[in-house]
Amino acid sequence: RITKSKEVTCSAPVNIAVIKYWGKRNTALLLPTNSSLSLTLNQDDLRSTTTIRASPDFVSDRIWLNGKEENINAKRLSNVLSKAKELRKEMEEKDADLEKLSEWGIYIASYNNFPTAAGLASSASGFACLTFALSQIYDLSINLSQVSMLARLGSGSACRSLFGGFVKWEMGTKDDGSDSLAIQVASETDWPGMEALILVVSDARKDTGSTEGMQLTVETSELLKHRIEKVVPQRMLDMEKAIAEKDFDSFAEITMADSNQFHAVCLDSYPPIFYLNDISKAVIKVITALNARSIHTDPSGKKKGYKVAYTFDAGPNAVLYMQREHLSEVLGVIDYLFPRKSTQKVGEYYGKAKEVLEN
Ligand code: PMV
Repeated sequence: RITKSKEVTCSAPVNIAVIKYWGKRNTALLLPTNSSLSLTLNQDDLRSTTTIRASPDFVSDRIWLNGKEENINAKRLSNVLSKAKELRKEMEEKDADLEKLSEWGIYIASYNNFPTAAGLASSASGFACLTFALSQIYDLSINLSQVSMLARLGSGSACRSLFGGFVKWEMGTKDDGSDSLAIQVASETDWPGMEALILVVSDARKDTGSTEGMQLTVETSELLKHRIEKVVPQRMLDMEKAIAEKDFDSFAEITMADSNQFHAVCLDSYPPIFYLNDISKAVIKVITALNARSIHTDPSGKKKGYKVAYTFDAGPNAVLYMQREHLSEVLGVIDYLFPRKSTQKVGEYYGKAKEVLEN
């Protein structure tokens, strides 16, 4: 007998925010308390790859993550799946010639080629990939921003990985989430030569997950209210302007200020959440000292000459953004001060960093 089946394979990269999403105003629909903006990292070594097979012979849906079977009924996953099936069903109801794929079971196998849940945005690439693969297997007639809304139901930051380049997630104002979606601000060729360097300080799973951490911050941080109302709206505008003008100085200032404020609201939560460790702090000091060597103030009072910007997500790993012309210098400094597999103690890093940068 001939078994019918359909299969698709997709891959999606991670994105790292320069204006951070931290806080939900609706925890079921994953609606954020502020808009955010990220860069999608277009490379091969931080990706999720997902294969979905649909068959009328599959009696139930199943999922394997990195080869291990996971619970298909996990809340967020089942929200994404049922929404995608619902959209397919609507199409089938309108067109009787369509195969009844919404009634078939699906098997999903997803792989990350990097550590999962270590603050390296694995949920972002994972859910972006899964959602895009679902939109393909079901031939959903929706655009990428609409796919991003589906991805958002899995993991907020995932909605930004549907696009390449510079991407914003508009928080939206509607209660049903229909305007909370991702939009590409600029493609990577609009501002070419931007490089990201990822410093894996630790690849251990983080101790406070983003869902739990955000809730704690929303419930207890006064500083978060200030950030949401007074800081992020203007920062989004300034960042979009910096990207449009390819103004790395403003880009770097905003990126570092926003990373700092995100970690400040974590610290302002109760109990406080610590994502940065001593090595992360040493990286901040090194980058600050490196920039200080070339920064000058122009007659209008604007600081110019930034070489590199750091940003940290919900973990100790640093992501450094810079323009290609500075990559080898930054890499040289980092490699020298933070040798791989080093047994040096953090205090020595500080000492060495200070000595090198001051001479
Ligand atoms: O989408 P989540 O739940 O993984 O949260 C992501 C939160 C940050 O990475 C810290 C910030 C961001 O905007 O990506």
